Amino acid sequence: MPRRDPLGPSETPRGRADPEFPVGWAELEREIAECRRCPLHRSRTHVVTYRGSPRPAVLFVGEAPGAVEDRLGVPFAGRSGKRLDRAIDEIGLGPSEYGILNLIKCRPPGNRFPIPSERACRPFLDRQIALLGPRGIVTLGARALAALDPGAPAVLTAAGTLRSVGGRPLFPLLHPAAPLHAPRWRERWARDLEALRRALPKMLRPRRGPAPRRARSDHRAVPARNGVASPGAL
Ligand code: URA
Repeated sequence: MPRRDPLGPSETPRGRADPEFPVGWAELEREIAECRRCPLHRSRTHVVTYRGSPRPAVLFVGEAPGAVEDRLGVPFAGRSGKRLDRAIDEIGLGPSEYGILNLIKCRPPGNRFPIPSERACRPFLDRQIALLGPRGIVTLGARALAALDPGAPAVLTAAGTLRSVGGRPLFPLLHPAAPLHAPRWRERWARDLEALRRALPKMLRPRRGPAPRRARSDHRAVPARNGVASPGAL
């Protein structure tokens, strides 16, 4: 039996009806919340979609929700999330400048990583990225890197160096759980983070191309009578 969202009365914790989010975002969140494309929907408590700014300059992409995230419906809400939040603070990004999501939206039981779920969730991830339109992406761990930059070398080689995918800067980091579980990765994590801090000005340079449309400035985002944004708003 799904628990009530402790963060508020809305069905999803972030941005569902927020007019600052891009046109189509609320509809996408609804689709993800109702997803039954893979077996993970049977064991989930909550889908875990997104937390952060409606206009993130930098998007952090993790792997899959754990037990805490499943319980709260919020990405990176547990120990590695605290480590990630601290890191984001350290590199100087403010709350309006970043967002956090995962490749997979439902918790894999036992935290085993399910390949079919990765495939099933992929269109959601691509649509989230397209709608949010971040200037740069930071991948967290090997799976996020492989999914978003299939041509990249192994994460231990790629982490800490600025890359580019489809003209968008992409910066791989180790997963923030790494420095928690293995002290030898703490130094590496700190080094890569410092490299990210230095790369940020380059990552945040404006890119050419249209900015994502925002619901606030588009009358098509007005919710339909049933309270759900019309598919035409996508
Ligand atoms: N690890 C992840 O990759 N994502 C989360 O949301 C939590 C832990």
